[in-house]
Amino acid sequence: MKPANQFIRNRLDERRTAGNLRSLKQQSGLVDFCSNDYLGFARSPVLKEKIDNEIERGGLISNGSTGSRLLSGNTAYAEELEQYLASLYGAEAGLLFNSGYDANLGLFSSLPQRGDTVISDELVHASIIDGMRLSYANRYSFKHNDLAGLEEKLKQAKGICYVAIESVYSMDGDTPPISEMLDLADKYNAHLIVDEAHAVGLFGFGLVTGHNLQRVFARIVTFGKALGCHGAIVLGSDSLKEYLVNFARSFIYTTAPTFHSLASVKMAHRLLQNADPEIKGLDQNIKLFKESIRSNAEFPLIASNSSIQCIVLKDSAKQMASYLQSAGLDVRPILSPTVAAGSERIRMCLHSFNSAEEISLLTNLINEFIDG
Ligand SMILES: Cc1ncc(COP(=O)(O)O)c(C=O)c1O
Repeated sequence: MKPANQFIRNRLDERRTAGNLRSLKQQSGLVDFCSNDYLGFARSPVLKEKIDNEIERGGLISNGSTGSRLLSGNTAYAEELEQYLASLYGAEAGLLFNSGYDANLGLFSSLPQRGDTVISDELVHASIIDGMRLSYANRYSFKHNDLAGLEEKLKQAKGICYVAIESVYSMDGDTPPISEMLDLADKYNAHLIVDEAHAVGLFGFGLVTGHNLQRVFARIVTFGKALGCHGAIVLGSDSLKEYLVNFARSFIYTTAPTFHSLASVKMAHRLLQNADPEIKGLDQNIKLFKESIRSNAEFPLIASNSSIQCIVLKDSAKQMASYLQSAGLDVRPILSPTVAAGSERIRMCLHSFNSAEEISLLTNLINEFIDG
C-alpha cells in the first residue's frame, strides 16, 4: 500500500510550484477591501446591541441547540424566523441551513434525480457545483450570462429541468438578465433557482424581490455576507420546504443553529429594513470607484454594478495585490483554480464604511500600475 503522506506532500508541492498554495491568514488590520461585510453589519455595535437585547428578551438558557432540527434541535423561534423571512422576501416558505454552502449542497444534491437535468451558468459557486455533483442528474453549463447558450441547453434537457444562476456573481460581481432567464425557463417548463448571496444588502432583499420575480422556483439567501452573521435560508414553496426537510442531507444530519445565531439573523434583517443610509453610502462608493478607475483592454475591469469589482491582471494579479497590501489596503488576488487560468484578477469588495480617501488611494495606485 502507498503512504498517504507522500501523496499529500506531492499535491502541496504541486501547488507551491504553481504559486497558488492556499494558506490561512489572520486579520491584517489593513483597510478592508476584501471582506463580504458590505454594509458593516458584522462590525456594527447597533446590531450587537439588538442581538443582546433579543437574547435577553428570549430569556432562553440554551448555549447550543442540542441536536438536529428533526430531533431535539427545533424551536418555535426557528420556525417563526423561517416564517418571518419567507414573508420578508415574498416567498411561501423558507428552510434554514447552517451555511450557504450547506443550503446549496442540500438543495442541488437532493432535488434533481437520475434522468433529470440541471443547467448552470459556467460561473456558479462551488457549493452549487458540489451539490449537482452529488446528484445523479444530467449536468450542463452555459456560457456566463448568455441567454442563447441557456436556450440551447434547455432544448437538450430531459426529465425535470432546473436552471441554476446567481443574481450577483461572487468572483465577477456582475448580474445576469434574471427576468429574461425566468421567461426562458418558463418557456421550456424548467425551474429557475437563484443564489442571492451577494445581492442581498446592496440590493435590499435581493434582486428577485427587487424585480418582483418571486415566482422563481427557489432562492438561496446567505446571512454571512451583507447581513454580517452566519447561515442561510432556501426560499420556495411549502412543498419544497417539506421535501428538503425529508431529503436534504445537509439539513437532516447536522446540529441546528444556536439560539444566538437565529437571533442574530432576525436582528440583522430588522436592521436591513432600516439600512438606507448604509445602502446609499455603499452605492456612492461603488460610483466613486467606477468613476475613478482607469482600466484598459490589457487589464479590463469586469462590468459590475455591485460591491464586487474585479480587474483581470493574469500573471500580475499577485504582484498587484502585494503592492496594494504594502500600501495598507487589503486586496486579494483571485487565482486559478478559483477562477479559470488566464483570468486571474484582483477582487475588490467595496463597503459602506470605506472612506472616499481610501477609495481614491486604491484607484490611484491601480491607475499608476496600469498606466505603467
Ligand atoms: C454565491 C455563493 N453562494 C453560496 C456561498 C456559500 O455561503 P456560505 O459562506 O454561507 O457558506 C457563497 C459564499 O462564498 C457564495 O458566494
